[in-house]
Amino acid sequence: MSDKATLEINGQKHEFPLITGTENEVAIDIKALRSVTGGVTTIDPGYKNTGSCVSAITFLDGEKGILRYRGYSIEELAEKADFLEVAYLLIFGELPTQEQLDKFHSDIKKHSVVDDDVKKILDAFPKSAHPMGVLSSLTSALTAFNPSSVNVDSEEEMYNAIVRILGKFPILVAWTMRKKMGLPLDYGSSSLGYVENILQMMFKRPDENYEQNPILVNALDKLLILHADHEQNCSTSTVRIVGSSHAGLFASLSAGISALWGPLHGGANQAVIEMLEAIKEDGGDTKKYMGKAKDKEDPFRLMGFGHRVYKNFDPRARIIKKAADDVLGDLGVEDPILDIAKGLEKEALEDDYFVKRKLYPNVDFYSGIIYRSMNIPVEMFTVMFALGRLPGWIAQWREMRLNKEPIGRPRQVYTGETLRSFKGINER
Ligand code: ACO
Repeated sequence: MSDKATLEINGQKHEFPLITGTENEVAIDIKALRSVTGGVTTIDPGYKNTGSCVSAITFLDGEKGILRYRGYSIEELAEKADFLEVAYLLIFGELPTQEQLDKFHSDIKKHSVVDDDVKKILDAFPKSAHPMGVLSSLTSALTAFNPSSVNVDSEEEMYNAIVRILGKFPILVAWTMRKKMGLPLDYGSSSLGYVENILQMMFKRPDENYEQNPILVNALDKLLILHADHEQNCSTSTVRIVGSSHAGLFASLSAGISALWGPLHGGANQAVIEMLEAIKEDGGDTKKYMGKAKDKEDPFRLMGFGHRVYKNFDPRARIIKKAADDVLGDLGVEDPILDIAKGLEKEALEDDYFVKRKLYPNVDFYSGIIYRSMNIPVEMFTVMFALGRLPGWIAQWREMRLNKEPIGRPRQVYTGETLRSFKGINER
C-alpha cells in the first residue's frame, strides 16, 4: 500500500502522509490540509471518521469485538487482574510488580481523606439532586481544596495528583450515595482492598458491621475493570479537550463526569432499568416496545442496545453477562424486570431490524441489572460507571499532557447569514 493519500480539489492534487498504528489501522494525516489547500477544512459531525490523537493506551476493534488495555485482552484482565492493577497498567503503561502495587495502594490510602468542609457543599444539595450532578460538582470543588495546578513535567507532581484523586474519588462516590439514602458520612478503612473499601463505604450502616460478599466484590471488581477505559469516547475526549487548555486534572475530570451523564453514553445503564420498569408498568409487553424501537416516527430506542464502535458484539457484555448470572444466582434474586430484560434480549437478537443494523446488548444492558441486584439506587448507576472510568480518564489526560498535544479547537463550516446591515429597532 502507498504511504500517501491524494486529494484532488478544483483540479489541484495534494498529497497527505498515511499513519499506520501498531494494529495496522491506517489514518490520513491531514495536519497540513488547511495550509496547503488555502483553508479547506473537513466536516465530520460526531467525529465518526476522525482520529483526534495517537494513543498507546487502549485498542479496540469494533468489527471483531476486541478490547485491549496496553496490549492485554479485556477477557484476560477481567479474569486475572484486579481493578487497582488495571488502573496502574492503564496509567503507567505496564502491569505493576507486587512492590509497585503495594506502594501505589498505600499512597492512595494516604490520600483517602477529603477536606471535611466538602461535607458542607454536599449538605447544600437537595436529596433529590441527581448523583452525577453532585459528583461532578464535588470533583470540581476538590480543585479548590487542592489548588496547585499539576506541573506535568514533574513526575512526582503528576504521581501525587493521580494518587490523590484515586484516593478521594471513592469517598465522593460513597458520600453522594449516602446523602441520598440519609446515611451518615464516613471515611473508609485502610485495612481493606480498594474495591472492598468502596463497598463498605457505600453500604456500611452505623449500627452494624459490614460483611463482604466475595461474589459481589468480584462482580464490582470486574465491572470497574470493564469500564476502566474505552479510548476516545465522549467523556474521555471531553477530559482530553478540557485538559488540552492546561486546565487541571480535577477540573478536566469534572467535565468528563458531566459528559458521561447523558443517556447516550454512561447514563444508558440507568436508562436501561428505567425502560424495563416502564415496560413492566405498561403490562410487560416486550413486543410492543420492540415495535416502538423499530418505528422511525417514534423516538423510543431500546436502551442498552447498539454501540458506536462495536458492530458485532460488545466483548464487555459477554464477560459481564456471566457475572450477572453469578450475582443473581448467589443472591437468589427474583425480579420481574429481569424476565423482561431476558425477553427483550432474546427478541432483539432474533429480529431482522436489530440483526441487520448489528445492534447487540452493550455492557450497560447488564451492568444496570447487577447494580440493581446489589441494591445500588438506580440514579447511582452512572456514578459507578464514573468510578470505573476514572483510571482511563487519568491515563488519557496524562498521555495528552506528556505528548504535549495542542489545545483542542475544531473548525466549522459557517452556514449563517452573510454580511448584512444593522436595522434600528423601529425598522425590524
Ligand atoms: N434502538 C433502536 N434502533 C437503534 C438503536 C437502538 N438502541 N441504536 C441504533 N439504532 C438504529 C438507528 O436508528 C439507525 O437506524 P437507521 O440506519 O435506520 O437510521 C441505526 O440503528 C444506526 O444507529 P446510529 O444511531 O446511527 O448509531 P450510532 O453509532 O450513532 O449510535 C448509540 C450508537 C448512541 C449507542 C445508539 O446505538 C443508541 O442510542 N443506543 C441506545 C443507548 C445506549 O445503550 N447507549 C450506551 C452506549 S454504550 C456506552 O456508552 C458504554
